[in-house]
Amino acid sequence: MLAAVVTAKTYKEAIREINNIQNADLIELRLDYIKDLSHRNIKNLIKMCKKPAIATNRKKDEGGLFTGSEEDRIDALQAAIKSDVNFVDVEYSTDKNLLKHLLKNKSTTRIIISHHNLYETPKNIINVYNKMKKLNPDFIKIVTKAKSVTDNFEIFDLINDANKEKTKVIAFCSGSYGEFSRILSIILGSQITYAANEKGKESADGQLTLNEMHSYRIKKLNNQTKILGIIGNPVTHSLSNIMHNAAFEKLNINAVYLKFKVDNLKHFVNYFKGQNILGFSVTIPHKIEIVKFIDNIDKKAEKIGAVNTIVVKNKRLIGHNTDCDGAIKALKTKTELKNKKVVVLGAGGSSRAVAYGLKEERANTTILNRTVESARNIADCFDCSYGSLNDLKKIDYDILINTTPVGMHPYPYDCPIPSRLLRKDSIIFDIVFNPYKTKLLKYAEKKECTVIPGFEMLINGAELQFKLWTKKNAPTHLMREKAISYLEDADHQN
Ligand code: ATR
Repeated sequence: MLAAVVTAKTYKEAIREINNIQNADLIELRLDYIKDLSHRNIKNLIKMCKKPAIATNRKKDEGGLFTGSEEDRIDALQAAIKSDVNFVDVEYSTDKNLLKHLLKNKSTTRIIISHHNLYETPKNIINVYNKMKKLNPDFIKIVTKAKSVTDNFEIFDLINDANKEKTKVIAFCSGSYGEFSRILSIILGSQITYAANEKGKESADGQLTLNEMHSYRIKKLNNQTKILGIIGNPVTHSLSNIMHNAAFEKLNINAVYLKFKVDNLKHFVNYFKGQNILGFSVTIPHKIEIVKFIDNIDKKAEKIGAVNTIVVKNKRLIGHNTDCDGAIKALKTKTELKNKKVVVLGAGGSSRAVAYGLKEERANTTILNRTVESARNIADCFDCSYGSLNDLKKIDYDILINTTPVGMHPYPYDCPIPSRLLRKDSIIFDIVFNPYKTKLLKYAEKKECTVIPGFEMLINGAELQFKLWTKKNAPTHLMREKAISYLEDADHQN
């Protein structure tokens, strides 16, 4: 179930917020946010909710705003019970006598006993769950902060244990490493996930908005849903979730595409191998390292030495590379490549894919990189020249390709090279796709260069990936439209 969280600061504002909620199964009233709270106001707000309501009066040390006495805090929850609220959320750390009293006098209200760790996910979190179980509440809620992607696995294991013994559990991780758990936990059997009514109204770190939750098709997910997602760090700039989830909706495919912020690739792969996975995209900085952890690699990806797409078949991970074809197709809409002088900035996984493609097309490529040694490694593999970024001033080129992340959201004002080094009449291709027009491309347009936005490579790659995962043709037009409209909205907000 999806709960919309009301974080209004006043009674009047709360009424407005409640009336604006659409498309949620539940409404969580955060009583601790409301400054002019009274028994009467509580009663009225519960009445106004056209959906089942959860009354929560969170104390400070568990992430709430309540600062009064424990007696007053529990008194507000008792008032909610008297008004026949459907659920009350009360912290396990509450004085046990107050807690027992509440459980005894709950009437028809169902009690969620909750535990929040705002700082970490302790390895023994299952012990906390076992203690909470002794109170025999209707629901046990556990939310811990993920400081690494691996912390999520403690919580997923806990959900599995609870499912086995038929205990109703609500569990996920907070923080950016835990963001995907707010969606995945529902597939695994957690009962409720929470969303903010709009951006800036979040009640917890990493909480998504209702709209974002719906873009993941949260209400259609079930234990048969196939899981896909992008593995990277950072992943906030990614548009792949928007494109692929829209495509799954259009073609009625029971799958969801998530954003996995991954700091520990080995543990991530080991854990997810056992899950209901269809595939992954791989992005910065994992495209080369991932090769160590897959079971098989296709010929092109092997030659490139980098993988940006994984297909999972019978729990075996097969690596592919769609970056190369995606980039070459984007370039060829503007130019022939044979004998062209091309400079590639950067020497990571994307650079390898581009350099391989350029070699196939018989271009004359020079790799320039901050770390010259990495540029040399690629040059040795794909018959290129190489040098440092400083060497650009000495080099004549027809095409310049940026494969570094410089200029990527959230740093759209950065540019990988000084604008004076842009050559008039050259073609400038920036593989950064968010923002749509990077600083580099804006400078290039001023110099009357032909520009190719990284989005073109992204959409070409997404089309190939979709086919690899689903064996179906991607609704490319729709995917393009959704991603572009997202980028335009983001641009307006900045
Ligand atoms: P990917 O696999 O997606 O291409 P990557 O392997 O992390 O990503 O490679 C990123 C490339 O961008 C690297 O060549 C990196 O340079 P180093 O080899 O010196 O690390 C380059 N890069 C990243 N940040 C940069 C910056 N601020 N300035 C210049 N180059 C940068």
